[in-house]
Amino acid sequence: MLGNTFGRLFRVTTSGESYGDALLTIVDGVPAGVELTDAMIQEELDKRRPGQSKLDSPRMETDQVKIVSGMLEGRTTGAPVGMIVYNVDRHDIHVQQYRDVKELIRPGHAEYPFFVKYGEFSDWCGAGRASGRETVGRVAGGAVAKQLLAREGIEVMGHVTESHGIKGRPLTFEEIKANYRKNDLNCCDLEKADEMIADILKVGEAGDTCGGVIEVVAHGVPAGLGEPVFDKLKGTIGGGLMGIGAVTGVEIGAGFHAARVRGSEWNDQPYLDEKQKVRFRTNYAGGLLGGISNGEDIVVRLCCKPTPTLSVPQSSIDMDAMKEKQLEAITRRDVTICPRIYPVAEAMVRIAIMDALLMAKGLEQLTLIDEKYKALSKTARERGEL
Ligand SMILES: Cc1cc2nc3c(=O)[nH]c(=O)nc-3n(C[C@H](O)[C@H](O)[C@H](O)COP(=O)(O)O)c2cc1C
Repeated sequence: MLGNTFGRLFRVTTSGESYGDALLTIVDGVPAGVELTDAMIQEELDKRRPGQSKLDSPRMETDQVKIVSGMLEGRTTGAPVGMIVYNVDRHDIHVQQYRDVKELIRPGHAEYPFFVKYGEFSDWCGAGRASGRETVGRVAGGAVAKQLLAREGIEVMGHVTESHGIKGRPLTFEEIKANYRKNDLNCCDLEKADEMIADILKVGEAGDTCGGVIEVVAHGVPAGLGEPVFDKLKGTIGGGLMGIGAVTGVEIGAGFHAARVRGSEWNDQPYLDEKQKVRFRTNYAGGLLGGISNGEDIVVRLCCKPTPTLSVPQSSIDMDAMKEKQLEAITRRDVTICPRIYPVAEAMVRIAIMDALLMAKGLEQLTLIDEKYKALSKTARERGEL
C-alpha cells in the first residue's frame, strides 16, 4: 500500500487500521524548540472521537494519544515527532460481525477495489485502512501543524453548513468562532442546527444514513503561500480534502457558482484599506488566486456522502462464491459522517498550509543565503581573492 504520507516539507505519515492494535503518526519538518504536549494533540482528537452523540458511531474509543519521539523536556528537538493512539474498543462480537460478511461487497464502501488489489489478504475487519479510524493519524498530524500555525497568527475552523439538503445561512469567521461546537453537529447556524439534527435522527431511526457539506475557513493566512504550478495551495488543499473517505467534492470559494455568472460579477475587486494594504471587496476566489494565497480568508467546502454502512437491505456479491447476495449491515456506523469529518478537514487544511509555509520560508532563506553569498563574493572579489 503506497501513499501514506501527505506534504512535501511538512510531512505527515500515518499507519494503522480500524481493528489493528494502534494508529501511528510521524510528523517530519517540525522545527526545534516548539512547545508540544499530549494535551494539545488530545484536544483535536477529542473533536473527532466517536461515541460522543446519537449522530456518531457507538464505538467507544478513548483515542488517548502519547507523543513518543522528537521531544525533550516538553519541546521539540527538530527530530520527527511520533505519536501513538491505541484502539481499545475492539470486541470479539464486532470482529465476528465483520468475519461473517467478509466475502461480501458493502455497497458504497471500499471492499470491491480492496478485493481487486489485495485479494485474500484484504483487511476485512472494519474496512482496514478504508475505515474512518485511519483519520486519527491525520488529526494528530494536523494538531502539530495547528501549534506551528498559531505562532504565525493563522487559525483554521471547520463547521457543518448543510445536512441532507437542509442549508444553514452563510456566516462570517467571527460568527463561526462564536458558535463553534455549540451543538452535536457543529453547525454554527444555531437555529438551523436543531432542524438538521432532528432530521438526522429520523434518518437514523429508519436504519439509513445521510450526508452534508462542511466549510473550512483559514484566517490570517499571509498572501504568497503556494507555488505557481504543481504545488498550488489550491491543489494541495483540494488533494488533502478529497483524500478523506466519504468526501465526494471540494469547492474553493464560491466554486461552482462561477459557472453561472459573468466575469464582471465574479471578479473580486481589489482596493487599498486604511493601512494601504491590498484587500478584495468580495471573496468568491476563496482567498486563492493562481493557486496562491491572496491574504483573504481561505474558504473551502467539502461534500460528504451518506455513510455507506446501512441497516437497510441492499444487494451485494459474495466474492468467494461469486454469487449475488443480500446484505443487511449490522456493524456500528455514524448516521452522518459530517460531525466526524470537520476535525479531519481542519487537520488536512492545516497540514497543507503548514507545508506551503515551509516551502515559502525555505525559498526565502535560500534567497537570503544567495544574497549573502553574492555580497561575500563581491567583497572577496574586491580583495582580489576571487
Ligand atoms: C471520520 C470518518 C468516519 C467514518 N465512519 C464511517 C462509518 O461509521 N461507516 C461507514 O460505512 N463509513 C464510514 N466512513 C466512510 C468510509 O471510510 C468511506 O466511505 C470509505 O472508505 C469509502 O471511501 P469513499 O467514500 O471515499 O469512496 C467514515 C469516514 C470518515 C472520514
